[in-house]
Amino acid sequence: MASSQTFASSPNPVSLETRFPSPLALILILFLSAFLLFVAIKPSKPTKALLPPTPHGAWPLIGHLPQFISAAKAHRLHLLVEQWIREYGKEEGLVRVRVAGVEVVHVGKDEAVKAIFDKASAFTSERPRWIVSNELMTGKWNVLLLSASDKRWKNQRKVINSTLTSIPRADAGVPILERESLAFLHEVAHDPGVAKDSKKIMASIARYTYSAFAQQTFGLEVPQYATSDVLHYIHETGLAQILGTLPGAFLVDVFNFLDYLPLFLKPWERAAKERFRRDVAFSCERMKRIKKLMQEGYMPDSMLARALTDEKRLGFESEEEAAYLSLNLIIGAADTSQMSTWSFLEAMLLNPEIQKKAQNEIDSVVGNRVPMWSDFEQIPYVRCMMKEVWRWHPPVTLGHPHITTREIQFKGYVIPKGMRIQLNAWAIGRDPKRHKDPERFWPERFEGDATTPQQSANLVDPTQRDHFAFGAGRRICPGINVAERSLAIAMMRILWAFDVRPSPTASHPLNPRNWPGDPPGNPSDEMPVVLEPRSEERVKAIDEAWSREQTGHPRRGTME
Ligand code: HEM
Ligand SMILES: *[C@@H]1O[C@H](CO)[C@@H](O)[C@H](O)[C@H]1NC(C)=O
Repeated sequence: MASSQTFASSPNPVSLETRFPSPLALILILFLSAFLLFVAIKPSKPTKALLPPTPHGAWPLIGHLPQFISAAKAHRLHLLVEQWIREYGKEEGLVRVRVAGVEVVHVGKDEAVKAIFDKASAFTSERPRWIVSNELMTGKWNVLLLSASDKRWKNQRKVINSTLTSIPRADAGVPILERESLAFLHEVAHDPGVAKDSKKIMASIARYTYSAFAQQTFGLEVPQYATSDVLHYIHETGLAQILGTLPGAFLVDVFNFLDYLPLFLKPWERAAKERFRRDVAFSCERMKRIKKLMQEGYMPDSMLARALTDEKRLGFESEEEAAYLSLNLIIGAADTSQMSTWSFLEAMLLNPEIQKKAQNEIDSVVGNRVPMWSDFEQIPYVRCMMKEVWRWHPPVTLGHPHITTREIQFKGYVIPKGMRIQLNAWAIGRDPKRHKDPERFWPERFEGDATTPQQSANLVDPTQRDHFAFGAGRRICPGINVAERSLAIAMMRILWAFDVRPSPTASHPLNPRNWPGDPPGNPSDEMPVVLEPRSEERVKAIDEAWSREQTGHPRRGTME
């Protein structure tokens, strides 16, 4: 999902920071303007007696904005909210934070998630109204931002499941994941410029995930990492959508009456509609390539190709909607998967004994051939590592906002109708009552738990669930089975092919505080990591598999 867009995964050496004004500065300015208006028009508040506790130190009107901004600047937002949850949330795990006119209840305990997001899901699956992000910038065509009462939300989720992410469809996508991850191995094994440069390793992982999901959604690949403007374009689109959902990003989302102004007084509307047009045009241009390939007798197994050949267009309003959703699904799928692989590399970098143990387990099952998804069940330790990566570093740290459509009660507290609520996967993963020694990367804590992420999310007892990286309730990440396959394949193959080592220039002892990333709680591409092929034999196995792949594969189109 796209909440993890705020890290630079640009394949270009130019980072996002240097290309765009700092998002933080923008948010600050917008918050402050929101504040000024808020002073003028303060809505009346219901009684606070039973509301979830709110941290001390709130300022009049702007609430916790100053604390929020300084924590965000230091990449410590996740730690601030976690600390509030521990200090004020106590048993219930609820804390109410106010930021410039927007109030959010952060949910930081497994039982609270079960009660609020799962059991009360009929009343907790709505999104806030985002005039700019949902209605203008994405034209009510992006499942992630759509209102739960919009019939398009239901249809898009149904289509995503039936064409892309159900277990049979996720299995059908495995050859694509295997091919693209093999391209990654091949690139690292033969280009020392990549293997010895963490930024390029990150970019090469990005290409793997973007290309895999572009094939599953559109049916087109992203062949080159070094020259790809497409990666940058897609990433930037997702970033704009997500920044637009932050409290205070657009005044009109706080003061809806501004929406009634004439168009010439609404520069945000013109800009957002322009972006929508551009992104639809981008998607339709790629759709044309698919159509051409299909006319030539080549049928990619993708969501879009299925929509184009279905009599009822799979319930999409138009071909354009299907093409545009394909773009948005790449955004949701690729960055989160890339970040998971990157956090996994951090865990291996910091824990060489665990790396060695996992390599031994993998070697004993697969020997000298390239590992396949079908090996995963035979290597339970890798499943444990996967659970531990998502517990330790959930890519969507603070959750994606929902709002309540009815008053919700939980352990004596009242969450009023219309309140923003966010599931805090980070804090739950660090709850010392759930996980002994929560800071420690320790896959053995999951020994004996063979559940898939889907099965674990469905458990009746939330204290037995592995982690909350995919959310909960009706809005739970629909990509969970695909995410599982993509990370499992990446983990097995990286450890089988390479040793994960600190770069020669790293300063010791290694300290993750030296490479804080976005979203907070995830490593940046400053992480000093290099990959070293483990043996000539393994490189030869990669080369042979790669040349087989080259000869056996049908023609494909590209996203470029
Ligand atoms: C490591 C990988 C991933 C993680 C950690 C992740 C996490 C999430 C989270 C936390 C949400 C928000 C849930 C909520 O609103 O409460 C979400 C939503 C979503 N994810 Fe994922 N995701 C991942 C991969 C994927 C993949 C591979 C796909 C598609 C193939 C995908 C598609 C989506 C979509 C479409 C939504 C929006 C659902 C809705 O609003 O109804 N995600 N994801
Ligand atoms: C997704 O599709 C699978 C297989 O087609 C089906 O069994 C399952 O019930 C679907 N899930 C949802 C949530 O629609």
